[in-house]
Amino acid sequence: MKDRIYNFNAGPAVLPEEVLKEAQENLFSLPGVGMSVLEISHRSKTFDAIIDEAKENLKSLLSIPDNYHLLFLQGGASTQFAMVPMNIMPPNNNADYIVTGSWSKKAVKEAKRFGTVNIAASSEETKFDRIPNEYKLSKDTSFVHFTSNNTIYGTEWLKEPEVGNIPLVCDASSDILHKKIDVSKYGLIYAGAQKNMGPSGVTFVIIRDDLLERCSDSLITMLNYKTHTENNSMYNTPPVFGVYMINLVTKWLKKLGGLDAMYKLNREKAEIIYNCIDSSNGYFKGHAQKDSRSIMNVTFNLTTEDLEKKLINEATSNGFSGIKGHRSIGGLRASIYNACPKVAVEELAKFMKDFQKKNG
Ligand SMILES: Cc1ncc(COP(=O)(O)O)c(C=O)c1O
Repeated sequence: MKDRIYNFNAGPAVLPEEVLKEAQENLFSLPGVGMSVLEISHRSKTFDAIIDEAKENLKSLLSIPDNYHLLFLQGGASTQFAMVPMNIMPPNNNADYIVTGSWSKKAVKEAKRFGTVNIAASSEETKFDRIPNEYKLSKDTSFVHFTSNNTIYGTEWLKEPEVGNIPLVCDASSDILHKKIDVSKYGLIYAGAQKNMGPSGVTFVIIRDDLLERCSDSLITMLNYKTHTENNSMYNTPPVFGVYMINLVTKWLKKLGGLDAMYKLNREKAEIIYNCIDSSNGYFKGHAQKDSRSIMNVTFNLTTEDLEKKLINEATSNGFSGIKGHRSIGGLRASIYNACPKVAVEELAKFMKDFQKKNG
């Protein structure tokens, strides 16, 4: 077997080889420190420098304005499904959700525990194959929540919804850092790190200053955003290794030329697979409508489940990992996040064309 196979897993997902090598090299002992990052105190100057550098890198990559706080939390994006409404649903105790997949539905389920949820739009009727182009916002809503990339269905917002002055909240777990976004249009962004940022176990949150005024002091300490903004994400022991890895990944992104360069490469990669699907005369059928296609998760089907199984088996024995679709919808999915090398995508497209020739 080759040292590293082609990894198309949806998350935890592929990390940049350069980052893995640097982490490996320094795992026994951080240069000049004499201890591993797994062993140092989070109250040390060494960790202070790591967390500050990670924040600075993220601020510059995403051009995050000064009136936002950057947090590294635990509990995954799933904890944010509850933490968001718990903290910022008051004063009106209602919120609007745009439902574009299973993760949005899970977010709605949690929000309902804290107030009234208005479903501003949903694409469930068409099996979440598209991003709705219309949404109906309710009056006096506390915020509007959307999922920028739908990992399971392979759809993605090209541009964030227009919500005027209402705080916009985004679950960006599966496309954060894939391109530049205008953070000033958002009230809050959250993302589990395990796709485009680093390992699982750390959750990145960006929250605008004014929303902190909504966070009640009666909330559970660990679930109050203010606890974490007031303590530089170190009220308790933070996910030290995760933050360290995010720092390395953001350094890698900067070296690559930042998010514009990353986006160009991501579009090129996605085009290779989508071209393969579109030129297959219906042999491969994309799940997402063309104008809603994700450039992070490409979802598609073959004409029969048997053929799909055959392709997955052959792909696995040819060194392609993780192309089985999510268990809830079946089919196939190639997750081609930032760190997925272009050569992996080119090889997958070649393999797919070859499979069609042999089994068409
Ligand atoms: C868009 C999206 N939101 C939320 C989640 C859940 O994240 P976590 O496992 O960090 O709770 C995922 C996980 O795949 C996801 O893709």
